[in-house]
Amino acid sequence: MGLSTELANELNNQMNREFESAYLYLQMAVYFEEKNLSGMATWMRSQYDEERAHALKFFDFILERNSTPVLETFQKPKNKWESPLNAFEDAYEHEKYISSSINDLMEKALTEKDYATKVFLDWFISEQVEEESTVLAIVEQLKMIKDSPSAMFFLNSELGTRTAAQE
Ligand code: FEO
Repeated sequence: MGLSTELANELNNQMNREFESAYLYLQMAVYFEEKNLSGMATWMRSQYDEERAHALKFFDFILERNSTPVLETFQKPKNKWESPLNAFEDAYEHEKYISSSINDLMEKALTEKDYATKVFLDWFISEQVEEESTVLAIVEQLKMIKDSPSAMFFLNSELGTRTAAQE
């Protein structure tokens, strides 16, 4: 069974949002490099890799369902932040926005009784819970750190050990 035109469009929009997320996080990696917080830059770069992988999951699924992925242009991402906390707060807000768009997609799939899309989206629903929780934990740690250079040094080192999940 093929995708309805409307669902194909919504899946395509989500694919583009995932690419846009990748773009935002790569720009955040630049911000952290310039702040000499290379561990946080590594974390953001891994996040960039994950978002590209998410986009490609949509890309492949759209193709498998005999529809056509269409790449769009998107806006230049923000490239300045007041502080590391401010950048991670933006990342958290962005993930909440992505979760809500995935939820909207799920609602549409269920309304259309497109169960193959529902099963495909299940993974993203769980992934978003994890993404929000991970980024929020970093936000909370940065709030605790405030202006302590040694605590910032420690968190930066810890975040630098991250590698992108291979899914
Ligand atoms: Fe692909 Fe961070 O959501």
